[in-house]
Amino acid sequence: MARRKIALIGAGQIGGTLALLSAQKELGDVVLFDVVEGVGAGKALDIAQSAVTQGFDVALKGTSEYKDIEGADVVIVTAGVPRKPGMSRDDLLEINLKVMEQVGAGIAKYAGNAFVICITNPLDAMVWALQKFSGLPTGKVIGMAGVLDSSRFCHFIAEELGVSIEDVSAFVLGGHGDTMVPLARYSTVAGIPLTDIVKMGWLSKDRLDEIVQRTRDGGAEIVGLLKTGSAFYAPAASAIAMAESYLKDKKRVLPAAVHLDGEYGVKGTYVGVPVVIGAGGAEKVVEIALNASERKAFDKSVAAVDGLIAACRKIAPKLA
Ligand code: APR
Repeated sequence: MARRKIALIGAGQIGGTLALLSAQKELGDVVLFDVVEGVGAGKALDIAQSAVTQGFDVALKGTSEYKDIEGADVVIVTAGVPRKPGMSRDDLLEINLKVMEQVGAGIAKYAGNAFVICITNPLDAMVWALQKFSGLPTGKVIGMAGVLDSSRFCHFIAEELGVSIEDVSAFVLGGHGDTMVPLARYSTVAGIPLTDIVKMGWLSKDRLDEIVQRTRDGGAEIVGLLKTGSAFYAPAASAIAMAESYLKDKKRVLPAAVHLDGEYGVKGTYVGVPVVIGAGGAEKVVEIALNASERKAFDKSVAAVDGLIAACRKIAPKLA
């Protein structure tokens, strides 16, 4: 069987980490595309020179030409501008929408059969626009946010309770923004829901609420610390988990921004929900039952995403 091909559009902080992880896991040969000439090639060469000590055998190539992504099995998009301190994800909308137009055209021309994972922010609106600009089937274009948000939630819970991260599982729904909905009821430690952990007196409700808020602010916390960019290790690791589930047909159930067609009562918008990712792409949206307060928070999140999409339509009327 021919080797798989992973095309990374954007060879910045996340793109470079994606390339390293793809190579270390031998997911396939890697193409690092960036508008800035030399960035992709420099990172590709640097990572290739770690192959002998790391013990992987894949080819890496940097490029500024879309034709080099031809036939890619997976395309992961981080092209665009990241947040600076004090800047919201939404401030990025206009700049990154133009980037999605170029990227969508490149994917449509050279990688029409790929599974596309978008990471560029504001995530839910960018993945929506990328699907439209590329014209690829909705089930093949998906956004990475939920895996990252739930990983952050897991980390905070494990740290708070002093338990192994291996036994923590967390669920986050909704858009990747201030309105995201970390679901305590579906987040567990060794199968025990966090709501029960509160009842048992292991964690106070106030502390849980603080952790939920810290999860919502997880990206901003890192932007505030780094000052010159946003998070990249965990975002890259999250997208790799999604790519791996697709390439190996693992059918993992992961939270991701997917196109909803009536599920959760939402139509035509991308929002974070649990989805089965396998060889068919986003194969099945898993509809979990929401109680009244969860529903309210989810609806608020959907409304925030709808607002961003409306703003995109205003900037780029052809997306309507
Ligand atoms: N086509 C291809 N690459 C582009 C384009 C474009 N039109 N415009 C910008 N880029 C490249 C930049 O040259 C840069 O190398 O995208 C790369 C982005 O990398 P970083 O600035 O390091 O940003 P990163 O931290 O990787 O985040 C990328 O993911 O999480 C989101 O908010 C984040 O939107 C941001 C994206």
